[in-house]
Amino acid sequence: MHPGSRPTESLWMDTADTLPFPPLAEDARAHVCVIGAGIAGMTTAYLLARAGKAVIVIDDGLIGAGESGRTTANICNALDDYYHRLEKLFGEDGARLAAESHTAAIQKIEEIVALEAIDCGFQRLDGFLFLHEGGSRKLLEDELEASHRAGLSDTGLFERAPLDAFDTGIALRFPRQAQFHILRYLNGLALAIIRDGGRIYCHTRAKDIEDGVPAHVTTADGHTITADDVVVATNSPVNDWMVMHTKQAAYRTYVVAFRVKKGTIPRIMLWDTGNPYHYVSLHSSGVPGSDYEVLLVGGEDHRTGQAEDTGERFVRIESWTRERFPMAEDVLYRWSGQLLQPVDSLAFIGKNPGADEHIYIVTGDSGNGITHATIAGMLLTDLICGCDNPWKDLYDPSCISFRSAPSYAKENFNIAEQYSSWLTPGDVGGVDEIPNDSGAVIRRGMHKIAAYKDADGNVTERSAVCTHLYCIVDWNDTEKTWDCPCHGSRFDQYGKVVSGPAIADLDPAPGS
Ligand code: FES
Repeated sequence: MHPGSRPTESLWMDTADTLPFPPLAEDARAHVCVIGAGIAGMTTAYLLARAGKAVIVIDDGLIGAGESGRTTANICNALDDYYHRLEKLFGEDGARLAAESHTAAIQKIEEIVALEAIDCGFQRLDGFLFLHEGGSRKLLEDELEASHRAGLSDTGLFERAPLDAFDTGIALRFPRQAQFHILRYLNGLALAIIRDGGRIYCHTRAKDIEDGVPAHVTTADGHTITADDVVVATNSPVNDWMVMHTKQAAYRTYVVAFRVKKGTIPRIMLWDTGNPYHYVSLHSSGVPGSDYEVLLVGGEDHRTGQAEDTGERFVRIESWTRERFPMAEDVLYRWSGQLLQPVDSLAFIGKNPGADEHIYIVTGDSGNGITHATIAGMLLTDLICGCDNPWKDLYDPSCISFRSAPSYAKENFNIAEQYSSWLTPGDVGGVDEIPNDSGAVIRRGMHKIAAYKDADGNVTERSAVCTHLYCIVDWNDTEKTWDCPCHGSRFDQYGKVVSGPAIADLDPAPGS
């Protein structure tokens, strides 16, 4: 199993050896310290290093071992919240800038792959948006017109997507989307960062991040990185305790990978208009022998920590796929990942809100994480280097669109509701009712306990209170993690923090 991976493993994790880097073992100085070695952090570090900055990248795991290694690696300017909705939130100019920036991100990746000769299977291909059952043709017509107004003049409506497997019905084509093997791409970025004088430290957790001239990052091992600027690229910003987490919501998404005979499905991307929507793509990596490819189908998203049927979601994706792609053979991989859905659809990239002058963040990857991450690399490099950038107001973390207020209120009402679980009974009456290799929250007097029983029946108990803002965590049986339903923090079965905004492990169980 790929070090640092969870019980499910993605196609990318299984088919690439991530370059290893040692932990930071002493104090260090850099122009810029980047926290997080996913695609956002690595792209930012790469572009800053190219611009002549001395960069240090730290990550508490390996390169790409967080959410970057769990995407489906689709690189799109077809936005999952639609251009006609973006126009309502940001106006036609805002939608145009969004289209321009996502298109530029695809081009930037293509340029980097060519310049650095990265062997990651980068490929351009067309994407097709088609109606889910009961979907309205008008949505596609509205999106066609809005995409043209946004400057994507080559989108077009077709009677169906060009595949024989099933009739999609009317479909909106977005030309020149792209895909690649994300971990091989990150390896290429890592080599280039090192070549350009950058330093990368894995298994190095940021514990404190302090703004100032200079800024300081203190690691969990007690070392200090002194830097002119700090970029927090940890998917969910671990430096921000509250503000950003009211502007976005954490969702889990599920992917199933099928073996298919080469040539039976054309190399295109597909998305339907469901909510949550299905996404489909085809890749060459991961199937021994050249006669096969991998069909990736994803969807079944839900708010993190708010679903008990995580395993069923793979079953539903498989059934959806087999109805439409009867040539799909055995299942090669199943995995889930996490995304942060901003209330106004676009990522937050720029200076951390508040008084911070030298702390920058990137978060709110949404369903367009690869392009948002690459936009972050370009935008943050410009901001740090003192250059103007036309996208900075659109992605400014201190703003949200006034018109997203209903969505903002809905997501935060959902969070407020989660605190009621302080008052509810446990999931089960006691540890005796927990099957092996599973977990459940139990009530013990005033306390809620996160109890995990391993494969041999040994029980580990931790407090079920999330160390971020004190919601009660929920057991995720697919990933064997404790997931927080409020802002998406996750902890492994023994309570060790896997992803923020929490930065501390679950506390010992009261009385233990
Ligand atoms: Fe905020 Fe758990 S992630 S309370």
